[in-house]
Amino acid sequence: MSNMIISPSILSSDFSNLNSVIAEFDRCKVDSIHLDVMDGHFVPNITFGPVVISAMRKLTKTQFETHLMIKDPNSYIKSFVDAGSDLLIIHYESDGNLSETIGTIRSFGKKVGIAINPKTPFESVREHMIDADLLLVMSVEPGFAGQLFMPQSLEKVRQARDYIDREGYKTLIGIDGGINLKIGKEAVDAGVDQIIAASAITSSKDVFKTIQDFKNLSRD
Ligand code: DX5
Ligand code: ZN
Repeated sequence: MSNMIISPSILSSDFSNLNSVIAEFDRCKVDSIHLDVMDGHFVPNITFGPVVISAMRKLTKTQFETHLMIKDPNSYIKSFVDAGSDLLIIHYESDGNLSETIGTIRSFGKKVGIAINPKTPFESVREHMIDADLLLVMSVEPGFAGQLFMPQSLEKVRQARDYIDREGYKTLIGIDGGINLKIGKEAVDAGVDQIIAASAITSSKDVFKTIQDFKNLSRD
């Protein structure tokens, strides 16, 4: 099996020094950098928007996946594309019509990710898997880094894996929230292709090794 896809989230990084945060991720040859955008409405926290992403875009060629935890994603797709996002992750629970927002992302030639909150069943987005590059299973309530992993999310990963394999789709499955190496292994066994992690990486004494360890996780 090929390497696990690892996308560090910058949410718990040092925002006063994004230059070296990104340089470090590039040194570790991460697959993509996960950018958590929060608007204070969809989630009770506010982070950053297109201005900061376009500034970061100048620092690296690594793929940017932008996780839009915002109320009205469809109205902001163009801004986040113009800022340099390669993959846009939208939430099933946001306002607007999911198919329409997917169409907007595709109209800019970008990749589509669909995220579901812990309380949302996989069935809610099953019909959209044919149109998605990534299904992002949230394993914490979105809003903050450093929360405890919710083990119920593994069952959702298994259901999604079964369905996506049965249909022969190429959709990748990612998991986001509370992931460390031990939980990452369980998630990989449940069927994820991609791991997103903030705290497990920033709190690590050896970021390079931790990222390699994530990449080397494989399914039993
Ligand atoms: C949570 C974000 C996650 C978060 C993960 O709302 O979507 O990407 O940064 O942080 P950890 O790995 O610390 O749970
Ligand atoms: Zn995220």
